Amino acid sequence: MAKRDTSFICQSCGAAYHRWQGKCEACGAWNTLAEEVAVTASVPAAQRSGRKGRAVALETLQGTATPAPRMVCGIGELDRVAGGGFVPGSVLLIGGDPGIGKSTLLVQASAALAARGQQVVYVSGEEAVDQVRLRAQRLGLEQAPVGLAAETNAENVIATLSGGPPVHMVVIDSIQTMWSDSVESAPGTVTQVRTSAQLLVRYAKQTGACVILVGHVTKDGQIAGPRVVEHMVDAVFSFEGDGGHQFRILRAQKNRFGPTDEIGVFEMTGRGLSEVANPSELFLSNRDAGAPGTAVFAGMEGTRPVLVEIQALVAPSSLGTPRRAVVGWDPNRLSMVLAVLDARCGVRLGGHDVYLNVAGGLRIGEPAADLAVAAALVSSLTGAPLPADAVYFGEASLTGAVRQVAQAAARLKEAAKLGFARAVLPSGGLDGVDAQVAIQPVASLAELVAAIAACAPRRAAMRESRDGATREHRPRAVEHAEWSDEEG
Ligand code: TYD
Ligand code: MG
Repeated sequence: MAKRDTSFICQSCGAAYHRWQGKCEACGAWNTLAEEVAVTASVPAAQRSGRKGRAVALETLQGTATPAPRMVCGIGELDRVAGGGFVPGSVLLIGGDPGIGKSTLLVQASAALAARGQQVVYVSGEEAVDQVRLRAQRLGLEQAPVGLAAETNAENVIATLSGGPPVHMVVIDSIQTMWSDSVESAPGTVTQVRTSAQLLVRYAKQTGACVILVGHVTKDGQIAGPRVVEHMVDAVFSFEGDGGHQFRILRAQKNRFGPTDEIGVFEMTGRGLSEVANPSELFLSNRDAGAPGTAVFAGMEGTRPVLVEIQALVAPSSLGTPRRAVVGWDPNRLSMVLAVLDARCGVRLGGHDVYLNVAGGLRIGEPAADLAVAAALVSSLTGAPLPADAVYFGEASLTGAVRQVAQAAARLKEAAKLGFARAVLPSGGLDGVDAQVAIQPVASLAELVAAIAACAPRRAAMRESRDGATREHRPRAVEHAEWSDEEG
C-alpha cells in the first residue's frame, strides 16, 4: 500500500518539512511552504514483486564513442550555445524573466527546424492556440509545419506525441503549467513540476526526441520550482536582458553536450529576435567617448571577445553611508576595487557615492574588468576623460598589482578589429602575440591612477569652495583627485 503523506514543501527550492513554518530554512525564502499530499514511501513496483536486479556488463573507459548527432536549426547563435545544434534524446531547460522572449525564441527555433524537415511539436500551457498563431504570424512563420497544441496535462502531451509520427523536437512552454494525474498536488506545485519533468525526461530518453522545457524565473533569477529539475535535464540555458534594452543574451549554465561559457546574442525587433553576429559593435554604439568616467573593457564571453563600455559616476555624497549602486557587475568586486584604490593608491572614495553601469545591459562576470572599472572610477573622480581609442583589461590583486588574464591575444585582436589603437593591460605575458594595437603595460593600479591624474583638468578651484582651502599646501598631483596624504 502506498502511504499518504502530507508535507509542506518549499515552492522555491523543494525542501520538505513536516510542519508549516514561515521561513524555509534551506533557501531562506519566506512564506513559500505549501501543503502537498505526496504518495511517498511507496516501494517501487519492481521491489514489491520481489524481482532481483539484472546484472549489466561493465565497460571500460576506452573504446569508440560516437559524437552526439546534432539537429542544427539554422539560428546560429542558438546552435552555438547548444554546442553545435540540439542533441536528440536530450532535455533542455530555458529560464528567463517573463516577457524576455522565451516563447518568441522557441517559436522561431521550432519553425526553423520544421522548415528543415524535422517533426516539431510546440505545446503551449500558457497561451491559447490563437495566441501562439498570432505570434507566428507576426514573425512571418505561419507557413512552417509545426504541430501546435494547448495542453497542460503531461500524460496527454506524451500520448499525443507517441500517437503520431516520430517527433524530433518538442517545446513545452512552460514546465510550471504542466501537471500529472499520478500525483495529487495542485498544478504549479513543486511535486507536479517535478513529476511532469520526470515524465518528459523519460519520454525524451525513450524516443530520442529533443525536449525543450521553458522555466519561469523567480525574483532573484533562479529557475522557479525545484532545483531537481535543473539536475534532471541535460542543459540549462538562461535568457537574459532587461526591459530597457533590446539585447537578449542566451547563456549556457549547464550543458552536458557542449561548453557552458558560450553566449548567444540576440536583438528583439518588431519581427522577433534577430541574431547579433558582432556584439561588440552593438555594445559600443552610441558611445560618448569624450566624457569622463567611461572605459572600454575588452572582455571575453566564452570563446568570444566582447568589447563593452563601463561607465562610472563618482559624486560627493550627502548621505552618512555613501551609496554604491552597480548594474551589470558584481557589487563585491566593486567594493574590492574601491578598497584597493583607497589602501594602495590613496584614492579616497569614502565620502562619495559610486554608481557603476555596464552599458547595453550586459552582465560581466570576469575579474578581468577590474582595470577598466578602476580606470572609469578614477576618470570620473578626476574629471579626466580616458583616451577614446583605448581598451582596458586586467585583474586587480589586493596588493594593488595588476595581474594578467587569459586570452589577451583574442581581446587585442577584437580591439584592433573595432578600430581601437591602444590597450592598457598588465605587463608581461604577451610573448609571441602579434598585437595590432599599441600596448601600454601597467604594473599596478597606482601607476594607472597616476597616468589618468596626469591628464586631469585643474579642479582645485571647484574643490576649494567645498572643502575649504586646505588643499593648497599639497603636492601638485593631489590637486586633481582626493589622494591621501601618505601618497603625495
Ligand atoms: P515572449 O516571447 O512572449 O516572452 P516570454 O515567453 O519570455 O514571456 O515575448 C514577449 C515580448 O517580446 C513582448 O513584450 C513583445 C516582444 N516582442 C517583440 O518585440 N517583437 C516580436 O516580434 C515579438 C513576437 C515579441
Ligand atoms: Mg512565454
